[in-house]
Amino acid sequence: MSTIKKIGVLTSGGDCSGLNAVIASVVKSAQNKGWEVYGIHDGTEGLTETPLSYEKLTVHNFCDTPWPRISGSYLGSLNKGVKMESQAEMSKRFGEGVKALGLDAVVVVGGDGSMNIVSNYCKNAGVKMVGIPKTMDNDTPLTQYSVGFDSACQVCMEAVDSLNNTARSHHRALILEVMGRDAGHLAMHSAIAGFADICLVPEIPYTLEGIVNKLEEVKKSGRTHAIIVVSEGIKTENGETLSSAKNMVGEKVLGGIGDYLNERINSVYKGFQTRVTRLGHVQRAGNPTYFDRMLASMLATKAVELLAENHTGIMVGLSHGKVESYPLDKVVECGTTLLNPNGDYVKTAKSLGMYIGEI
Ligand code: F6P
Repeated sequence: MSTIKKIGVLTSGGDCSGLNAVIASVVKSAQNKGWEVYGIHDGTEGLTETPLSYEKLTVHNFCDTPWPRISGSYLGSLNKGVKMESQAEMSKRFGEGVKALGLDAVVVVGGDGSMNIVSNYCKNAGVKMVGIPKTMDNDTPLTQYSVGFDSACQVCMEAVDSLNNTARSHHRALILEVMGRDAGHLAMHSAIAGFADICLVPEIPYTLEGIVNKLEEVKKSGRTHAIIVVSEGIKTENGETLSSAKNMVGEKVLGGIGDYLNERINSVYKGFQTRVTRLGHVQRAGNPTYFDRMLASMLATKAVELLAENHTGIMVGLSHGKVESYPLDKVVECGTTLLNPNGDYVKTAKSLGMYIGEI
């Protein structure tokens, strides 16, 4: 029998489309059980800063508004890591915030980094927690899909389609740089769906010669344009990671590999003119797709169900069409899920004749 009467929900880490759909589904299913839901502002900050920052969410004031259908996080999110030495202090403040609000548990919508950080706070402070995976990078371990990935793929695929039209008009090879950090899921999925000619991902090494050979093959086939999708996390030929800035905790913000490749290809190959599009944060901003809304609903209702059964320290996820739950310790232990170079997505790209690197 559940002892829960009041829960908190927060979004943590970089935003992505579908977060509001998750929040709405948490509110609906919790309210159906007679619980109160408090939305915590700006990730964990709403509980660790003074004054606390939160608001009561209801079906009426949140679910029945346009918010569940649009991207971004209504609650705000926090995308900065926490230094090891600050963890104990932050856990204490987090626990005090939870106590002051009278929350019986928290639902944390986050990626691999947030699952790690917030599950630690909860463990240290004795707070019940269920995690819901979200990230456009799709690199949260154990679950097959995280909320936000499908919507980001849709934006990238539509960008490839648009680029294909203008590439054709001007007989160009157009490069699209997409996000994904260290994982190539987003690049590979959108390259396959967009029928790209070349896709470069951090998990598979490439050569300039390989790229040029593929472009020449396209040209010889009689086609007058080409599409290259590159993941922001791939390295230069010298193994250097390119970044355009640093974030608030001094980590590199990836970006710039598209420009680098543009310059390198142009310097050795004249068969196509190349240009670059760096898609940037629009990838996080399309309205949530059907799949992300469905996933949001399934994972959120499962999270509430698990709390009702007095479970804690778990993350929900989707595996082969089934909603599952995984111990958070195991999620943290697994780290980040990269694209499998021997998996079916890579196999598919190869069979389609795409150049995906030296594999
Ligand atoms: O992890 C999600 C993500 O969008 C990555 O794909 C990207 O590298 C990063 O966040 C960008 O972070 P920020 O918005 O902090 O620059």
